[in-house]
Amino acid sequence: MVGTGYVGLVTGGCLAEIGHEVVCTDNDAAKLQTLQSGGLPIYEPGLDAVISKARKQGRVRFCSNPAEAVEAGDAIFICVGTPPLPNGDADLSAIDHVARLIATEARSPKLVIEKSTVPAQTGQELMRALSVYGRKSGVTFRVASNPEFLREGTAVEDFLHPDRIVVGVEDEAAERQLKEIYKPVLERKFNCPVHAPSGCPAGPAPAWLVTTINSAELIKHASNSFLALKISYANMVADLAERLGADIEEVTRAVGMDPRIGRSFLNAGLGFGGFCLPKDLQAFVHLAERSGVDFSLLKEVEKINRKRIEHFLEKVRRALWVVKGKRIAVLGLAFKPNTDDIRFAPAIDLIAQLLAEGALVSAYDPEAMEKARPVLQQVDFAASAEEAAKDAEALLIATEWPQFRQLNWERVRDVMARPLVLDARNLLSAPEMKARGFEYYSMGRPD
Ligand code: UDX
Repeated sequence: MVGTGYVGLVTGGCLAEIGHEVVCTDNDAAKLQTLQSGGLPIYEPGLDAVISKARKQGRVRFCSNPAEAVEAGDAIFICVGTPPLPNGDADLSAIDHVARLIATEARSPKLVIEKSTVPAQTGQELMRALSVYGRKSGVTFRVASNPEFLREGTAVEDFLHPDRIVVGVEDEAAERQLKEIYKPVLERKFNCPVHAPSGCPAGPAPAWLVTTINSAELIKHASNSFLALKISYANMVADLAERLGADIEEVTRAVGMDPRIGRSFLNAGLGFGGFCLPKDLQAFVHLAERSGVDFSLLKEVEKINRKRIEHFLEKVRRALWVVKGKRIAVLGLAFKPNTDDIRFAPAIDLIAQLLAEGALVSAYDPEAMEKARPVLQQVDFAASAEEAAKDAEALLIATEWPQFRQLNWERVRDVMARPLVLDARNLLSAPEMKARGFEYYSMGRPD
């Protein structure tokens, strides 16, 4: 496993869990140090247990010598970052770097698998890079694309119980090897750490989809962009519902019951964030442009998403009249619940804007505060939601952590300077909040 970010650690941990021997490496020395001393650099539910067990059983190790890691693997998964360049294209320099590493250090045949999300045709470039850099070694390389569909927060479960496993290959040997790797998942024959001790719920075995490498790469971008499109669509309908006095929750519930549409990813709110959806969408638009296809539909999806924070801020300004000098509590910093990830989190942009307008912000998040501290230095980080709410003239919900629903809202009301809640994620019930004595606003629902 080259790269020990979310994808590399979840993939590595889960492959060890189903019986493989895994060696992980990374060029971030601090991250490796944390892993080597028994820690985990990220919070992901269930991952700690999976990695601890694999460590104890000697099926995973973290290796700071990349050459040693490369040589240890019959199959090498590339799980390095492909962040956006300033122009929106994916930065593939880390992939190129890994190709050079593998090509120069390999002494035996390798199956090199792209796990990172990359634009279509990267596989071809990867193959070319491996043969150019490795021309003197005489080692045989095969390339495959095996896109991940892991959602942060449920990544372990997503890995072990996927709907589908997509493998893009150019030859049968690569397909055979990948099938061997995924056999326990395909046959559902492993001791599931997610559903222990009761056992996994019955369900169909994952679909095994063999495609070309180009198709596999396209599948990943097309999937994530479609999810983004659903969210922006729901957000526009929410704006319309607000104007027309309808309730977006009632609308999307009914719309989503049509199996052709489906209920998921129709939640209106602050828009999509995180490290995948925004960057994949941007990279896909660029890829289309470079290929001579005007995917203006997706440009609109992006534009709608960018406006969500301003739309919510308008509500805050309307409710508060003057923002400058007022204390505002923000609950939720992560880009979604059950993760500590704040990359491209709408909550962070929202807070930056509030600070720019002169508000005094106190914030609380169950997991993401450590990561948020360095980027939000003017914010007062509170030890609890209630503490964040103290003396605030407004409380904003920016991430829908389920535990915020269970707060003692009467106590929150009593410590606030003004019982005003603006819920950017439609987490709470308007009638309940009203009954508790709050002035309450949300997204696409009657105030
Ligand atoms: C995503 C894809 O879902 C996953 O398949 C891929 O492999 C990696 O990218 P992730 O980034 O973990 O996963 O987050 P996801 O659950 O997709 O949510 C993305 C963003 O959309 C979050 O900010 C979330 O709050 C937002 N969202 C999601 C909505 O605003 N409304 C919704 O209905 C769903």
